[in-house]
Amino acid sequence: MRPWWESAVVYQVYPRSFQDSDGDGIGDLKGITRRLDYLVDLGIDALWISPIYPSPMADFGYDVADYCGIDPRFGTLADFDALLAAAHARGLKLLLDFVPNHSSDAHPWFADSRSSRDAAKRDWYIWRDPAPDGGPPNNWISDFGGPAWQWDDATGQYYYHAFLKEQPDLNWRNPDLRTAMMDVLRFWFDRGVDGFRIDVLWHMIKRADFPDNPANPDYRPGMGEMHRVLQLHSTDQPEVHDIAAEMRGLADDHGERVLIGEIYLPIDRLMHYYGRDLPGVHLPFNFELIDAPWDSRRLAEIIAEYEAALPPGGWPNWVLGNHDRPRIAARVGEAQARVAAILLLTLRGTPTLYYGDEIGIADVAIPADRVQDPRELREPGIGLGRDPVRTPMAWDASANGGFTTGEPWLPLHPDWPARNLAAERDDPASLWSLTRDLIALRRKRPALSVGAWRPVHADDDILAYERQDGEDRLLIALNLGTEERSLCLPGWIGDPSPLLSTRHSREGGNPAPSSGGGEKKLAPRFRGGDNEMEQRILALAPNEGVILA
Ligand code: NOJ
Repeated sequence: MRPWWESAVVYQVYPRSFQDSDGDGIGDLKGITRRLDYLVDLGIDALWISPIYPSPMADFGYDVADYCGIDPRFGTLADFDALLAAAHARGLKLLLDFVPNHSSDAHPWFADSRSSRDAAKRDWYIWRDPAPDGGPPNNWISDFGGPAWQWDDATGQYYYHAFLKEQPDLNWRNPDLRTAMMDVLRFWFDRGVDGFRIDVLWHMIKRADFPDNPANPDYRPGMGEMHRVLQLHSTDQPEVHDIAAEMRGLADDHGERVLIGEIYLPIDRLMHYYGRDLPGVHLPFNFELIDAPWDSRRLAEIIAEYEAALPPGGWPNWVLGNHDRPRIAARVGEAQARVAAILLLTLRGTPTLYYGDEIGIADVAIPADRVQDPRELREPGIGLGRDPVRTPMAWDASANGGFTTGEPWLPLHPDWPARNLAAERDDPASLWSLTRDLIALRRKRPALSVGAWRPVHADDDILAYERQDGEDRLLIALNLGTEERSLCLPGWIGDPSPLLSTRHSREGGNPAPSSGGGEKKLAPRFRGGDNEMEQRILALAPNEGVILA
């Protein structure tokens, strides 16, 4: 039996922006509970909720002040238990976000650590003497710009922070800290959560002697200051894999739970996070599609390279967007966002869908006086800010898209009166309907989720591949361009039967995948085939994607 997460579709909820229930303009747990039936309709299997723990919100919850509580802005532990029970009652799994690399500077552990050099928890964080010139101990740069070391007058040392100075890094070489953090995982597992997304897993251990990072020869202004150096010694150290294995052991002890590691590394290094013989995290997040140029040959190479690099038994996964990166609709445009949805939901492995992408929300321009993200505030104007991708979900055409009765913490996308769930749900040709149909088709045809992947064609804007599970063999053909293209159909396709297409409106209806029958209603144009020697050609309209059986 496969574990549930191999065939699952994961949906990322950014809790501040999903659904507000108390009118403060910030989404909350009761709001998420209210929208669970929506997630069931969409067909997803698991939701991952970005951090909901008590936090000063210097980095919107990725600065945790209590790992075992709920921030009052989001609700209470009782609200969390109610959400979890309601999710489970609907057959949905729930994943939390574990932020082990750093805490908030408001965490009591850090208060103790900074109180004196002899404090019990001094070594739970990373303290170093100044360099001989009195400056920071080395040249490491914060991911949010500026030095990664903060001077502390009271105890006369620097502490290390890979992100904001309000997010001191925890010292995972300290055994007591390690035990305390494992207890945190245990706390939530015992409460019933089905797994975790682990924040910046590859950052968790730094080289013990803290040498300077080498300069990055490819650095150009405008890239973000962190890229001045290569994070050779500050990230991806071999000892991190022992930690991943320890967390994995704990997860396995609690039955079928899943750990998804956030890791931005090239494919070869990413694969190490499965661990040799797979004792590492179940799914090291695969962000290859997030950074990929929208080019058929390049995408085909990336997919093939990733597939080939997977260790035996290592399960693949795919992501198009998240709360840190530009939204897919902004990157590739509205028409291609539909093609992208097919890609995400027909590659082998576990896809993670970012909230709002299913209705095609694009990046939202944030007026200067409403910028909230510390990344943008520290390095403004070079496109690093993340507010544009964290804007509220639009549910209907009522005030603020039904997100809040108050003032939303970030503005909604300007086209929300038309681009909202209610409007798209009523439109069988919408991106939302396409996404729902894709998820339903995955469920009906396991070839799409767990079947083998094989490349068919990649050129001239066409990306085509097949998926096969036993007798079930499907062709996915995507036109990534704005010109009509044609594709020679592989011989194994008999009488081509389109199961689903991006061109719903033009073709008169996708067959509802769950209703059976009617699968011939759609008619992409085929040429040839009468004569056995003749190649059959599939004509793909601009921006068209199809799934054929
Ligand atoms: C990665 C998270 O996704 C991002 O939002 C956060 O700012 C950093 N880690 C620091 O926790």
